[in-house]
Amino acid sequence: MNIEWDSKTYGEKCAFVGEYGKGVVDLLSVPPGARVLDLGCGRGELTAYLAQRGWNAEGMDASKAQLADAKRRFPEIVFFEGDITSFEVEKRYDAVFSNAVLHWIDKDSQPDALAHVRAALKTGGEFVFEMGGKGNAAAIHAALKEEILARGGTYRHDFFFPDEAEYSALLEAAGFEVRYASLFERPTPLKGEDGIADWIGVFAKNELSGLPEGQRRAAALAAQERLKGALFADGIWTADYVRLRMKAVAV
Ligand code: BEZ
Repeated sequence: MNIEWDSKTYGEKCAFVGEYGKGVVDLLSVPPGARVLDLGCGRGELTAYLAQRGWNAEGMDASKAQLADAKRRFPEIVFFEGDITSFEVEKRYDAVFSNAVLHWIDKDSQPDALAHVRAALKTGGEFVFEMGGKGNAAAIHAALKEEILARGGTYRHDFFFPDEAEYSALLEAAGFEVRYASLFERPTPLKGEDGIADWIGVFAKNELSGLPEGQRRAAALAAQERLKGALFADGIWTADYVRLRMKAVAV
């Protein structure tokens, strides 16, 4: 799925993505100095965190805007452009890390993505990641769907939010052995008085494209209103996130 990222808005509204990703890093057990690729590195926060933890980290992303930002912020780190479903590397890595990226790849393209991750790793190398899991942001997407359809728009939803069993099968088919898997709810507080509508504006651009431009913000705000009972408390909006965290080894 291709998204035009607005790097500034992403940086302001979505800092939580990188903060939560730090917990995923703890699943890595390769030694200090090992080469680690941050797949879908975005603005590079977690690549820099990997480097700070002592690994030889590099970042790859498909978004030119995000990469430009990453290079400006962390000039000492190597960042390069690549699409997860087709990238190739000259020298294999000891580990591949990824946070909040794999669910952007539709289900049919997952085998391609995992084949390229496998090819980028040494045998015995680690693949450690977190992605949206089964049921992720389901209430938000259901409310948005209602509002898009109510305005005569078309609704499409291409995210892939698997459970442990479904993703384990894909990993095994691509040449990995699963070592750890956890599917868990992680209610995620959002910034701002229109936290849900802002989240929709950043993360549900494809869904919103089923409406004319002039109706999109109104649909996002109406979806937010529908969710007040479920996702708003003490002045804070909370996204109904479910995460799938896994570690697999290349065999
Ligand atoms: C997420 O990071 O969980 C997410 C991203 C886009 C759409 C839905 C969820």
